Amino acid sequence: QELQGHVSIILLGATGDLAKKYLWQGLFQLYMDEAGQGHSFSFHGAALTAPKQGQALMTKALESLSCPEDMAPGHCAEHKDEFLQLSQYYQLNTTEDYQALNKDIEARVQNGALREAGRIFYFSVPPFAYADIARSINSSCRPGPGAWLRVVLEKPFGHDHLSAQQLATELGSFFQEEEMYRVDHYLGKQAVAQILPFRDQNRKALDRLWSRHQVERVEIIMKETVDAGGRTSFYEEYGVIRDVLQNHLTEVLTLVAMELPQNVSDVQAVLRHKLQVFQELRGLQKGSTVVGQYQAYPEQVRRELQRPDSFHSLTPTFAGVLIHLDNLRWEGVPFILMSGKALDERVSYVRVLFKNQACCVQSEKHRAAPQSQCLPRQVVFHIGHGDLGSPAVLVSRNLFRPSLPTGWKEVGEQSGLHLFGRPLSDYYAYSPVREQDAYSILLSRIFHGRKDSFITTENLLASWAFWSPVLDSLAREAPRLYPGGAENGPLLDLEFSGSQLFFSQQPLEQLVPGPGS
Ligand code: BG6
Repeated sequence: QELQGHVSIILLGATGDLAKKYLWQGLFQLYMDEAGQGHSFSFHGAALTAPKQGQALMTKALESLSCPEDMAPGHCAEHKDEFLQLSQYYQLNTTEDYQALNKDIEARVQNGALREAGRIFYFSVPPFAYADIARSINSSCRPGPGAWLRVVLEKPFGHDHLSAQQLATELGSFFQEEEMYRVDHYLGKQAVAQILPFRDQNRKALDRLWSRHQVERVEIIMKETVDAGGRTSFYEEYGVIRDVLQNHLTEVLTLVAMELPQNVSDVQAVLRHKLQVFQELRGLQKGSTVVGQYQAYPEQVRRELQRPDSFHSLTPTFAGVLIHLDNLRWEGVPFILMSGKALDERVSYVRVLFKNQACCVQSEKHRAAPQSQCLPRQVVFHIGHGDLGSPAVLVSRNLFRPSLPTGWKEVGEQSGLHLFGRPLSDYYAYSPVREQDAYSILLSRIFHGRKDSFITTENLLASWAFWSPVLDSLAREAPRLYPGGAENGPLLDLEFSGSQLFFSQQPLEQLVPGPGS
């Protein structure tokens, strides 16, 4: 049971890009959803900018807030007004600034009718600023007895196992584990957040399907058309494996592969079962990773980071990885993770492909068998973009008819639309009744203390323990060059055999490590 009371939300980095793009909107949504439920709120935007200028920037961000489409304009304007009234800008820099913020929050609680329920500090700031902020919160801004503290952290959470461990130890000296919410925004994407509920709700049908006996392979893909231009200083240090595979794609893998707890609402059980998957990831063999780099990347780095003409980069902007799990359920099943920048399309999905050979052989022999039995059998969690555009869950009609939790509806016919080579009519297809941004979903989960949608320290370190050796072994590997843009499709097609993954076509060219790399 959640105790009702006053909740203060402090957004650090209130005028930054993430705040402008997603966080203020997510907080507004949270306010609209929860304010009528017995809680009172105050929103404290904070940054280093001086008060007047900071308040102006923040107000600008708040003016563009939007309401759900079906909300009456008058009602929407009312909510926006209330939200603006409850939001205030603070310049937070020195210990005194944090003390003043604390006093302000205490005064609001005393003046209001409710006790203090808790405080959320959202760190939308670069990680180098974490330690100082954490120290100030711990010394000057903890809520009073009986109220909770939740600090929300954004990646990158380290660069490898050692740096992640150091950051975790540092943060651990200021906060308890249960106070820390490390965000992986993919866990807030509607189709990703649906993986466990879907598996739970269809336990009976999936019981005979969700294992090595029936699954041929699992693909976890995030293709992007944007390149790394404008962010090369970050990208040079991280590359696609640290940026996307170590976190987003591995998190998705754990949700697909983990053993389902009896009760998927049991937060601790979900976290335990996820951690188990990390412990069962088989260390990668040489040859199970391929890396690429779009051709324009080194020039972008030279330009943006003022590097000499001779500079070459070995940073991968594309990676494919073939992973196996050492457990009975998934023994021998390839999990293929793939992501890249400057590719031919923008799409992300998880696709579980089931074995079909026996059926196909039979139908060829016995022509009378209905053709439909030989069609691909797959479950797809369509995370976003692509031809479909929206999040969706799709199940081949020749597999089973799934049941989805409330909040999802069957997708109507869309003529001409094909997914994975099959018309949409080949699938039972579902999409959310109300599309919601990942950050809105995660903010609601932070508010409700749903820690299973966030990265625990154990989970984080286990993931780095898997990825760090891969990154070390790739550190001097020349990525394959690809042109970037529409021509990439076939050039980056992957094939595998055993634990070896390779590009389907001969490399265009390999980069030679240069003096600057
Ligand atoms: C971020 C990465 O975590 O995810 C970016 O740092 C990437 O490089 C982004 O572009 C993709 O997220 P989405 O929500 O656009 O799929």
